[in-house]
Amino acid sequence: MLTGRNIVLGVSGGVAAYKAAYLARRLVEAGAAVRCVMTESAGQFIGAQTLAAVTGEHPVEGFWDEPEVSPHTDLGHWADAMIIAPATAATIAKLAAGLSDNALIATALATESPIVLAPAMHTEMWNNAATQRNVALLSADGVTIVGPDRGALAGGDVGPGRMIEPEEIVAALSRILEGDLDGIRVMVTAGGTREAIDPVRYIGNRSSGKMGNAVALEAASRGAQVTLITTAPAPDALGIEVIAVETAQEMADQTWSRATAADVVVMAAAVADFRPQVAGEEKMRRADGMPHLELEPTPDILAGLAGMEDRPFLVGFAAEAGSLDGALHKATTKGVDLLVGNDVSRPGSGFATDTNEVTIYTSDGAAEHLPLLSKREAAGLLWDRIRDMRSQG
Ligand code: PMT
Repeated sequence: MLTGRNIVLGVSGGVAAYKAAYLARRLVEAGAAVRCVMTESAGQFIGAQTLAAVTGEHPVEGFWDEPEVSPHTDLGHWADAMIIAPATAATIAKLAAGLSDNALIATALATESPIVLAPAMHTEMWNNAATQRNVALLSADGVTIVGPDRGALAGGDVGPGRMIEPEEIVAALSRILEGDLDGIRVMVTAGGTREAIDPVRYIGNRSSGKMGNAVALEAASRGAQVTLITTAPAPDALGIEVIAVETAQEMADQTWSRATAADVVVMAAAVADFRPQVAGEEKMRRADGMPHLELEPTPDILAGLAGMEDRPFLVGFAAEAGSLDGALHKATTKGVDLLVGNDVSRPGSGFATDTNEVTIYTSDGAAEHLPLLSKREAAGLLWDRIRDMRSQG
């Protein structure tokens, strides 16, 4: 599975560090050459000698007293991928800030290879706004975050924050390195469109682009060739081609003109259904009295794609509030292969959140409900379904 691959395993200082030896063993068994880099506090939880015995190489423990002149750049260049497991709140924060004051972070900054990061910490630390902000930053930078799970934590606590099992970390790494979406041409739409009322105002919506960005990043990290058509700030990672648009018409023009070159289109954008018939050339003034806005429909981008003769595999999204009946209806009537419904009124779901609770529908109305996950994890499972359905023909 990982035969001939060079994997750097970064171990930071949490109790889950004891699992790092087991993870290293799994990587070696999968055929990888493994070298470890550990923080000083990781040494409180696992001995360097243990990692050396499993991998056959003594771990890098610092910048000094190492046989190499520049251990972090040596490791960074050597790596085909780097895993950081466990990743503590401090390590996540340092990596998000680019603060390379230890050999582990310096190695992560010195590598151009993919990074998989498995957080492990107490629930309160995981839920803390700073940690969530840092995780979202790293995810947007192209780092793959796996876990954490719910379960027993240090000191007898139970909750989210437990490091995901080593087998799942190896599986996530394999998906990235094997590139199970290798060569697939993907187009993703993201963000909320804006329809001008006058030079100052517009009709818009609350979409931040995070869901579409997660779908694009996940596909790119698994080898797909990705074009992201978006109204929102885009991730600057992994060679994603970014096409900036503002209105539904611009999104329609860009999407339709490129659709024949795509194998899969995922429409995560929140597209306006109506726009002002005429956008005022001058700013409306309160003194001029109550304005009357005549609206007209925007193009239905999804319907246009669904009507194409040789259409790509098509995934729509549906933002619903309260019940997902509307999403089910769209799944069976919109001519899509999959439709992802999300209830934007649920906490942690929908607009501008880093998490989402989605239900994936097939066109015959069959539903698969996923728990509340990070948008990147939800995107990962969506791509698993797309890959499986496409391979079944
Ligand atoms: O961007 P985030 O802040 O992360 O928020 C994510 C999200 C909530 C925007 C996303 O998860 C989501 O639900 N996107 C679809 C929102 C939406 O517009 O749903 P809809 O039910 O109005 O549209 C259904 C589908 O038709 C969507 O795929 C939409 O892109 C598409 N559509 C809609 C209108 C239109 N004129 N043309 C379209 O193609």
